Amino acid sequence: MKVAITGAKGMLGTTLMNTLEGHELFALDREDCDVTKPSLVCSVFEKIKPDVVIHCAAMTSVDLCESKQFEAWKTNAFGTTNVAHACYKTGAKLIAISTDYVFDGELDRPYNEYDEPNGGLNAYAKSKWAAEQAVRSLCPNHLVARVAWLYGEDGPSFVHTMVRLADGTRSEIKVVKDQIGNPTSTKAVADALRSILNHPELVGTVHLTCEGEASWFEFAKKIFELKGINQKVVPCTSDQYPTPAKRPHNSRLQKLVLKESGIYQMPHWEDALNDFLSSQKKD
Ligand SMILES: NC(=O)c1ccc[n+]([C@@H]2O[C@H](COP(=O)([O-])OP(=O)(O)OC[C@H]3O[C@@H](n4cnc5c(N)ncnc54)[C@H](OP(=O)(O)O)[C@@H]3O)[C@@H](O)[C@H]2O)c1
Repeated sequence: MKVAITGAKGMLGTTLMNTLEGHELFALDREDCDVTKPSLVCSVFEKIKPDVVIHCAAMTSVDLCESKQFEAWKTNAFGTTNVAHACYKTGAKLIAISTDYVFDGELDRPYNEYDEPNGGLNAYAKSKWAAEQAVRSLCPNHLVARVAWLYGEDGPSFVHTMVRLADGTRSEIKVVKDQIGNPTSTKAVADALRSILNHPELVGTVHLTCEGEASWFEFAKKIFELKGINQKVVPCTSDQYPTPAKRPHNSRLQKLVLKESGIYQMPHWEDALNDFLSSQKKD
């Protein structure tokens, strides 16, 4: 199968390129295929004629999106619109990577694929929600795949930040305890997408996060435990750790579609984290 990956040099794109063996892969980065250029995206897809496009390209720094909102809308919403239209024109299935942040986090249970997002709490979330809507209206053969709390090979990610901060110079690290989600490795997402590629009948929306849940505080503690780092971690609230972009308190995603389709079982987040940290030790 011909699979084109936008944002192929990013964290998820890199893992996908290393995981989807057996397919003819086309790595598209900003130089080859700037998604904000509609005619370029169309001509690149017309040349490749991909069966599937996995659209990872995005402006992903949530706080930067808050201060550069025009750029966020341009890359995430307009860029995805262009990719969706080009997929429709060339007959490719579009797998568009989205985010847990499309939900405001007010629900007292994990969100499933059929819960109505309200567009999210920050500019990044709103631009990704607009992107999802463009995918749904412009390219019927699509799968919106929501991921969350990602870490992978070279980062940047929360895992990389925690390991960097624990350099022995800090008596304690304060980490937010009142935001809960599903820490997820890019490898777990890529493995799930590898299975999904064998199921062209799966369309609509799917949640692809690891099983189990944790706060950022619990996530940090587990990172240090698994890495054998003796670092004191102190819980704090979101109010005590203000960021330019507001984050949801509840980011948990239920994997209703994945379970009902029987296509793939996401690993528990602690197992995925252990695998990731073990693979890093070997390098
Ligand atoms: N990381 C997370 O925790 C997380 C959570 C939820 C959802 N997601 C979603 O998962 C997807 C992959 O995220 P990631 O963590 O792999 O992000 P990433 O490492 O920031 O990768 C994004 C890639 O998109 C590229 N890009 C940006 N603007 C572009 C443009 N105009 N044209 C073409 N390429 C462009 C970037 O290139 P440059 O380096 O040149 O900018 C980068 O290679 C994104 O859709 C993101 O919204 C991520």
